[in-house]
Amino acid sequence: MIVDRLGRRFRNLRVSLTAACNYACTYCVPDGKRLLKARNELDASELYEAVKLLKQATGIDKLRITGGEPLVTPKFDDFLMGVMSLGLQDVSLTTNGQLLPRKHDVIVQSGIRRINVSLDTLDPQNFRTIARSGDLATVLGGIDALLDAGIRVKVNMVPLRSQNADDIVPMLDYCLERGIELRYIELMRMGHLLNGQGFQTDFISMESLLDRISEKYEFTRTDAPYDSTAVRFQIPGKGVFGIIANESEPFCRSCTRLRLSSDGYIYGCLSSSRRQFIGDLIHEPSHIALPRLQNILVGALADKKLAFQGEVTVMKLIGG
Ligand code: 5AD
Repeated sequence: MIVDRLGRRFRNLRVSLTAACNYACTYCVPDGKRLLKARNELDASELYEAVKLLKQATGIDKLRITGGEPLVTPKFDDFLMGVMSLGLQDVSLTTNGQLLPRKHDVIVQSGIRRINVSLDTLDPQNFRTIARSGDLATVLGGIDALLDAGIRVKVNMVPLRSQNADDIVPMLDYCLERGIELRYIELMRMGHLLNGQGFQTDFISMESLLDRISEKYEFTRTDAPYDSTAVRFQIPGKGVFGIIANESEPFCRSCTRLRLSSDGYIYGCLSSSRRQFIGDLIHEPSHIALPRLQNILVGALADKKLAFQGEVTVMKLIGG
């Protein structure tokens, strides 16, 4: 097994099925242009072979399907069915929820147990201001249908001072009522936020979030798994929420994530644009592919940082 001096190893694989997205969220794309798919994206079976190889090489036992927006690509159905057959401990999905009605049946049939839906506001108009597309009611309907089917849902919200600060508590109300764990994600300095004014204007820290929430709810900090990215809080009798406190409480020292992009590159760290192509290895016999992959993974693990420093491009391609 490949382990670094902090005891970090790759355990969680995040696969971006496509770089394309049907939203153009203000904090992700500055110019409002929707993201297109990457030039040479792997198809569903190639991505599946890459996952199999990575599982063999590293002992990955958790996988998250992400994007771009994973539900926009026709690869989704086959890839999902494929990875569900690999005997992984956990398979999950991150989606913006807009295409859930169309994909509901295949999702339920696949047997997937956990889905994270990104949702930044409960106001229909503000929704379109932030996402610059889509329809709030469709997402809410999609979430209800998942819950009815017995799938565990988490909601991701990125709090932004100028755009949805008034939604911080209502979003929590909404989630608690439905048994959903809300995850507030502290804004990260990715893409145009790395050097522009936007980050300073919009960043809301964990402390300010907790201040707001404490006006309505009492909560205590609760345990989170060793390699969890979230700080979790229990509201007695009501439920749990989490904060991905990338700035306030960085989690790099226990990070176990490895990322595979839709065009076949692996990234060892979200705060590094260093990447290695593995799309060619899936066509090699395993006695050649595996040692090469091991070497690449040693390099990818060494890319992991001690703190998040921001990154120019990766998030929109890699889905966080
Ligand atoms: N900072 C924090 N979260 C972000 N996301 C996308 N860009 C950023 C950013 N710059 C979120 C999305 C989605 C999750 C995968 O990452 O809203 O919920």
